[in-house]
Amino acid sequence: MSAEPRSDRASRYPAIHARSIDDPEGFWGDAARAVEWIAEPRAIFDPALGVYGRWFVGGLTNVCHNALDRHVDAGRGQQPAIYYDSPVTGAKRTVTYSEMLREVRILAGVLRELGVGKGDRVVIYMPMIPEAVFAMLACARIGAVHSVVFGGFAAAELASRIDDARPKVVLSASCGIEPNRIVAYKPLLDLALTIAKHAPSACVIFQRPEAEAGLKEGRDLDWAAMREKVATSARGVECATVSATDPLYILYTSGTTGKPKGVVRDTGGYMVALRWSMEGLYDVKPGEVFWSASDIGWVVGHSYIVYAPLLAGCTTVLFEGKPVGTPDAGVFWRVIEEYKVSALFTAPTALRAIKKEDPEGLLMKDYDLSTLRTLFLAGERADPDTVVWAETRLGIPVVDHWWQTETGWAIAGNPVGLGALDVKVGSTGVPMPGYQVDILDEGGHHVGPNRMGSIAIKLPLPPGCLPTLWQQDERFRESYLAEFPGYYKTADAGFCDADGQLFIMGRTDDIINVAGHRLSTGGMEEVLASHPDVAECAVIGIHDELKGEVPCGFVVLKAGVARAPNEIEGEIVALVRERIGPVAAFRIAIAVHRLPKTRSGKILRGTMKKIADAEPWNMPATIDDPSSLDEIAAALSARGLPKASAA
Ligand code: COA
Ligand code: AMP
Repeated sequence: MSAEPRSDRASRYPAIHARSIDDPEGFWGDAARAVEWIAEPRAIFDPALGVYGRWFVGGLTNVCHNALDRHVDAGRGQQPAIYYDSPVTGAKRTVTYSEMLREVRILAGVLRELGVGKGDRVVIYMPMIPEAVFAMLACARIGAVHSVVFGGFAAAELASRIDDARPKVVLSASCGIEPNRIVAYKPLLDLALTIAKHAPSACVIFQRPEAEAGLKEGRDLDWAAMREKVATSARGVECATVSATDPLYILYTSGTTGKPKGVVRDTGGYMVALRWSMEGLYDVKPGEVFWSASDIGWVVGHSYIVYAPLLAGCTTVLFEGKPVGTPDAGVFWRVIEEYKVSALFTAPTALRAIKKEDPEGLLMKDYDLSTLRTLFLAGERADPDTVVWAETRLGIPVVDHWWQTETGWAIAGNPVGLGALDVKVGSTGVPMPGYQVDILDEGGHHVGPNRMGSIAIKLPLPPGCLPTLWQQDERFRESYLAEFPGYYKTADAGFCDADGQLFIMGRTDDIINVAGHRLSTGGMEEVLASHPDVAECAVIGIHDELKGEVPCGFVVLKAGVARAPNEIEGEIVALVRERIGPVAAFRIAIAVHRLPKTRSGKILRGTMKKIADAEPWNMPATIDDPSSLDEIAAALSARGLPKASAA
């Protein structure tokens, strides 16, 4: 992509992006001065190391030191580090940088006591409470590698992550709280540990009063008791010296099969990129309040609830609630007023939920939103209606920015900190420093402006992006680097316009985005296929007014199955909830006589999706049995699909 954005002479962006590409070592070397090093890197980038090169080689540092100790040393001790606000329990708590440092030191001491050292893995399976953030930083403090698992996943998903990461210790809590129920985490953890082959040596359980958990002798330890033990016997531990290239965490994300990919995040590159982004992209300064209304189980939560705001000396908001129903569609505006939030980062689906309940935005008027300068959206395509709705009512810029678990921070956006660009509604803006984004055709050739293609990023990826998959360099190469030599394949499709602005239109693989949550239809098909009465199946993502997309499964039953199809459909819905989790929002299973296929046997998922989304479609010339598509259309219509709004 070569064109620079138009009408942006006032923005520092064009010069900064150009420098990051022409002189990456100079650019990132300068950016690296914003973090504290125990030893400066000997090379800003070494192309000979790792799969495609490594950043800040030879640098020694510690993320926890940069997120906490240095701020306390610099006089920020009494500044709030976290505003915890939990409308689902009614709890509120302010944790200052000093308090947080004390808690993290103690928890690091607990981990040490349990034999956890540098490079050991710790799985964190916790709800949105301050202790979960302490847990992440305690791992960083001693150089252990954390892997946070989102609470909405089922036991089997937790088990597969435990088997892959092989943690020495699991940190968990007795329960999470959803508006409609208490989710007992401990039984899910117990079940996961019976499914998993790997056994951690200890599980430390934080008891929440809403549902206390039973502890298993010899394995489970009470968080408060361990904290007490370490707090009285020692003042906790100091920061370990960690290499810039050492892993800080593993975060599992959906791949094209049921086996999730363990995205590895390094230490030095991540810190430098996040620190740059807080001012360059988000325009948020030390001491200001940043709110990312996500969950620590997702990459957005890792980067912008925890690490980036703390690295920048900001106050982060930890919100345990939903955009609607806790108690109403005004809660986001209440939080902004109460904590004087400067920038809010959320998923478009959250705004759609608010817009549905409060279409005129009347609840906004009850609150003083004058501190809020920018609203950032990511996680799924931001539909222009929602962007315009928010922009008009809030009267501030709404910035859609595009990224992935793999990249750890935005690939493209509108860098308001450098002087906002004139970005079109529907575009996710321009590439961030270090990203050379290209649109390629099937043969890997660059395509010109406004032409759809596969979006790829020229290697090397900038700091902050994954260096590899956890202990799977080969899977990393095959999944991301093999198709377009010299590039990282994003698996997103889209185009770039003549002004250099990117438009992200959808995935090229079978990943779908349900309420901003990334899920694999391939993984769901594996679950459907495991039902004893199912011969064949296909899962597609269909348009949903609120969640963007929801999964829809079609199954062909085995010959001779005499049970009522709707009974089996119900079992299939329950099976996905049990194996993948409620977050999959899998509610539609439809039994059909045959799946539409080409004569060579390829399931016509694309055409099925068009029918379900009420998009124009043509009968594929290669279809084996045209009546199979008619059956799909009739079955969907019998369920009231497509909904009128999808048309
Ligand atoms: N622990 C346990 N269960 C969880 C959970 C968690 N941490 N998070 C979600 N779930 C469950 C929910 O209770 C729900 O279960 P149900 O089927 O029994 O109702 C299911 O998973 C789906 O949850 P969710 O996706 O939150 O849907 P919802 O219908 O409850 O709420 C929205 C819809 C739009 C309000 C909600 O999805 C939302 O706030 N989305 C924002 C997403 C976001 O921030 N994404 C991060 C990327 S930036
Ligand atoms: P995740 O890894 O969960 O962050 O999901 C990454 C995927 O979400 C991307 O590959 C995109 O398909 C999608 N995505 C994220 N942000 C955006 C955005 N701003 N616009 C369109 N799609 C997005």
